Amino acid sequence: MVDHTSTACPLFPRPSHLSREAFIASFGDLYECSPWIAETAWDKGLSEHEDSVHGLVGHLARVLDAADEEQQLAVIRAHPDLAGKAALAGEVSNDSLKEQAGAGLDQCSPEELERFTRLNAAYRGRFGFPFVIAVRGKDRHAILDAFEARLDNTPNEERHTAIAQIHSIARQRLEARAED
Ligand code: GUN
Repeated sequence: MVDHTSTACPLFPRPSHLSREAFIASFGDLYECSPWIAETAWDKGLSEHEDSVHGLVGHLARVLDAADEEQQLAVIRAHPDLAGKAALAGEVSNDSLKEQAGAGLDQCSPEELERFTRLNAAYRGRFGFPFVIAVRGKDRHAILDAFEARLDNTPNEERHTAIAQIHSIARQRLEARAED
């Protein structure tokens, strides 16, 4: 679930005043390559409550939480591997590129890169989706440690953990935009 400790930081322009098109243009990319979450959120209706970071992330999170398992898995699978080939070639979304560079994943030593490659393959082999973690505020050592620890989880635990991390990523993306 979403971390509800974030402040009720107001959003301008107010999401509840936006047309569907403008809302999707502003928030369709908070969930990686999954604009249907913002589309469904707008279709469900927006009130003043959604005019803050806290309110909007909660509203978006409820859409993904209510989705079926296949839809949730598709959102998890929309994430590129951390320090993977696509990320290293810059062929990922702007948000993902910034997040990975912010955690220093573009500065890995050959040994660290080898560890990411090995863990990405082991994790995908075990769970059938990529390892997702909200990397903002973490360095690559903490990420690698979490990566190893989460390999011991059950597939069900790991699907729930991945969705919780994806909600945190969406919140961090929205907070970063609200600060700008
Ligand atoms: N955490 C934050 N951004 C990303 C991403 O693009 N991919 C994965 N796997 N985890 C992330």
